[in-house]
Amino acid sequence: MTEQSPALDNLLTESRTFPPSEAFSAQANATADFYAEADADREAFWAKQAERLHWETKWSQVLDWTNAPVAKWFVGGKLNVAYNCVDRHVDSGHGDQVAIHWVGEPGDSRDITYAQLKDEVSQAANALESLGLKAGDRVAIQMPMVPEAIVAMLACARIGVLHSVVFGGFSPTALRSRVDDQAARIVITTDGQYRRGKAAPMKANVDEALEGAESVEKVIVVRRTGEEVPITEGRDIWWHELVDGQSAEHAPQAFDSEHPLFILYTSGTTGKPKGILHTSGGYLTQAAYTHHNVFDHKAGEDVYWCTADIGWITGHTYIVYGPLANRTTQVVYEGTPNTPHEGRHWEIVQQHKVSIYYTAPTLIRTFMKWGNEIPQKYDLSSLRVLGSVGEPINPEAWIWYRENIGANAAPIVDTWWQTETGGIMISPLPGVTATKPGSAQKALPGISAKVVDDQGVEVGKGGGGYLVLDKPWPGMLRGIWGDEQRFRETYWSRFADQGFYFAGDGAKYDADGDVWLLGRVDDVMNVSGHRISTTEVESALVSHPTVAEAAVVGATDPTTGQGIVAFVILRGNAVDGGDEAVQELRNHVAKEIGPIAKPRQILVVQELPKTRSGKIMRRLLRDVAENRQVGDVTTLADSSVMDLISSGLKSGK
Ligand code: PRX
Repeated sequence: MTEQSPALDNLLTESRTFPPSEAFSAQANATADFYAEADADREAFWAKQAERLHWETKWSQVLDWTNAPVAKWFVGGKLNVAYNCVDRHVDSGHGDQVAIHWVGEPGDSRDITYAQLKDEVSQAANALESLGLKAGDRVAIQMPMVPEAIVAMLACARIGVLHSVVFGGFSPTALRSRVDDQAARIVITTDGQYRRGKAAPMKANVDEALEGAESVEKVIVVRRTGEEVPITEGRDIWWHELVDGQSAEHAPQAFDSEHPLFILYTSGTTGKPKGILHTSGGYLTQAAYTHHNVFDHKAGEDVYWCTADIGWITGHTYIVYGPLANRTTQVVYEGTPNTPHEGRHWEIVQQHKVSIYYTAPTLIRTFMKWGNEIPQKYDLSSLRVLGSVGEPINPEAWIWYRENIGANAAPIVDTWWQTETGGIMISPLPGVTATKPGSAQKALPGISAKVVDDQGVEVGKGGGGYLVLDKPWPGMLRGIWGDEQRFRETYWSRFADQGFYFAGDGAKYDADGDVWLLGRVDDVMNVSGHRISTTEVESALVSHPTVAEAAVVGATDPTTGQGIVAFVILRGNAVDGGDEAVQELRNHVAKEIGPIAKPRQILVVQELPKTRSGKIMRRLLRDVAENRQVGDVTTLADSSVMDLISSGLKSGK
């Protein structure tokens, strides 16, 4: 097990528990006997969960694991994902229920009912078909949080086209590599986006990305900010010109349960992002089941708000697919949490009487920093369930969340999962679990997770090691787009003998057997809940002409969880390692990958610590970055290197 930071050690001294109130338990969707029911017959349990959806043809087999690690769930079943998320709620008489309370950053808003959503998705599906798209094709989407982004995703799903959403903050280079990898035929974007009160360009990013991109035939542009954008004749089409005139009738075709639904790129341990592939029936089952039980969601009563961006898996599963499959009324907010003021989220909660709120620890810590008095100004009494996702939540932030946002009463669900798992895997169940600040606690009913040692043997209570998933689950990834070998190597080779999925996270059991997540054990950083690989940032740095070599580490950061710290060796003639050079390098990384990957700090050094086989010892660099005494240097090829680095930094060189 790799060493863990002192901050994470502190997590494990937490011993408070918060049992659910009787009143909450009495009305909760989930009950304690779910665990025993699922243990007794997992497949029967999942089959029951799949009944939550509308199947055009029922499956003949729940799970086919004979071709492991590629699973097939609900074999032979056929369904249309968009029909399940939209039309069937209209068919069951809920067309007038608001699906989306959309709140734009500048203050504009739109309420969209399920009936309206059905019309818009149908029109968009007709539009995409009019461009010749057919099932199995790929569409890349780079958009801010506007309703059309959700409509576009559902329209793709409706016609069996895979969408691949690329976070709006990713650079042209990052977008291009994703478009090329999947050979996307169409890209959907907006003219611009509102960010911190200002209109910023979006289409310009796409134009730059697509120069010479061979697979792309059309770019569809949604008008959002109204700014002038250059139009490439023959390629670019305005969304309103293409979609608005289409018929609102579109017959949804049923697709196989294993028909691919989307690709979502995520960082791995190498420079090249992985296109995580998800399919239809199993994914939607897990999305709907977890959303219903983990958030105790009641259709037609709750108002739900997940603050994620659709560019990430949380936005896919807990804004689009899970909530809409469950006929949720939800808030979708376009902007940043402090525009125009730091109470924006609480103002929205008050206005829409939000009852379920799901966010990330990094934002909770930011709210803490802004001060208790801000949420106190608003009526937050509608909130009854709070969620957390993306990184370990420190007990202090957890308690602050409970006291200041949840009125000391709303259960907090700390949900562990990944892009690859498709949906929540480890989490308390509100109304069932006595929650513990900082622990995700227990695999959900139907899910199996273990903490194992190096040999793959489960550790005992109080023991630490690696988190593995030892049984297949419906929402699991079905592969990495175009790279089966990498899929097997990344997730299934570490514990090949046992057939475990290796999550890449360190974890511990406490004395009660509850699971505590301890962060990544590989070269993946977690910055504000976003996954960024050290190698990705290193390659961006060395692509700059002044950089000879670079090593990047994730250092503990009080707000963002981890911050990116880079150590660079400059080329011989680029002797100037001053502020300007450093700033230039930070901007270069932002340009190559996106602003989220901008290093917090860049330190110019003369040497990097390497083992005799030439591997950079990031552990030692992390010690420096976190201002700790440097650890064991005996495996270094040259043990004086660390002295050189430390003294160079002290003297400000
Ligand atoms: O390290 C874990 C951390 O986020 C990683 C997955 O990142 P991503 O695929 O981007 O998905 C994030 C949203 C699901 C995991 O390997 N992580 C996520 N949730 C938690 C967490 N770490 C601790 N506690 C969590 N609740």
